Amino acid sequence: MFLNTVLIAAVAVVPALAQIPSNISVPSLNVPACPKKGTVTYDKSVPDQVAFPRTKVDVCYDDSHIDITFTAYNETNFFVNPNYTTNSPIYQYTAMETFISRGTGDPQTYLEFEIAPNNVTFQAMIYNPSKVRADGAPFDTFYVAEPLVDGLTATTTVNKPIGLWVSSARIPLGFFNVDNGTAHGTQWRMNFFRIITAPSTFPAQFYGAWSQPDEANFHMTPYFGHITFV
Ligand SMILES: *[C@@H]1O[C@H](CO)[C@@H](O)[C@H](O)[C@H]1NC(C)=O
Ligand SMILES: *[C@@H]1O[C@H](CO)[C@@H](O)[C@H](O)[C@H]1NC(C)=O
Ligand SMILES: *[C@@H]1O[C@H](CO)[C@@H](O)[C@H](O)[C@H]1NC(C)=O
Ligand SMILES: *[C@@H]1O[C@H](CO)[C@@H](O)[C@H](O)[C@H]1NC(C)=O
Ligand SMILES: *[C@@H]1O[C@H](CO)[C@@H](O)[C@H](O)[C@H]1NC(C)=O
Repeated sequence: MFLNTVLIAAVAVVPALAQIPSNISVPSLNVPACPKKGTVTYDKSVPDQVAFPRTKVDVCYDDSHIDITFTAYNETNFFVNPNYTTNSPIYQYTAMETFISRGTGDPQTYLEFEIAPNNVTFQAMIYNPSKVRADGAPFDTFYVAEPLVDGLTATTTVNKPIGLWVSSARIPLGFFNVDNGTAHGTQWRMNFFRIITAPSTFPAQFYGAWSQPDEANFHMTPYFGHITFV
């Protein structure tokens, strides 16, 4: 959920969305029960694959939640809109994100969770039946209005002098129809993203991803990685 006005303008002049190649290879990750963690790192931009500040994601599960820790290295601006609160469009500024669905297929519906360096979160179920946010296709956002009431919590620490930003989120398994205590062995599709902005270049953004889509569009679900809770 990050298309800014510049990108929307760019998309509008592209006549048709590129076909998803049938032979794309997406990464896989085994995720253990907490306190062990499955870890990925990425350091390439979307879609140009130039150097991108290193970003790490640690994932584990317990009886009731998925636990995700996002670590941003080399963050220089920590640029946010201070007026934004829960479910504001924080993807216009600086954010780390995960898109999550249970199962093995390319999802039409998935959770989009984002967090900003000031600990503001965005959380919504997305309905994206084209699986690529195709022009003219339905694309709907069902906000999680009361994340704390639902048990979706987050914490954030930043160390600006060394460019470090760490945010952790606990996401209820029940969001995905996984009952407490039954996560072992479940399979998932997920992706992880980071958006960098600077006051001097706003609203232009710099994007990074774990599993790289072939265009600056995070909502391409065939590119979500494969995750197994082991
Ligand atoms: C997919 O196929 C195309 C066309 O044959 C090829 O150029 C591309 O490198 C392939 N990609 C992968 C990930 O194998
Ligand atoms: C991150 O910062 C370190 C230390 O300043 C530097 O050595 C490294 O090249 C930077 N990496 C990126 C991807 O910016
Ligand atoms: C699942 O476990 C969490 C944490 O213990 C608890 O808050 C929640 O009510 C449980 N959910 C159900 C449906 O029992
Ligand atoms: C935040 O709100 C204040 C008061 O309405 C406004 O003056 C300011 O421009 C807003 N900041 C941003 C970044 O939108
Ligand atoms: C971040 O938000 C959570 C609620 O999701 C809150 O519990 C926490 O105290 C906030 N602050 C920090 C610094 O993590």
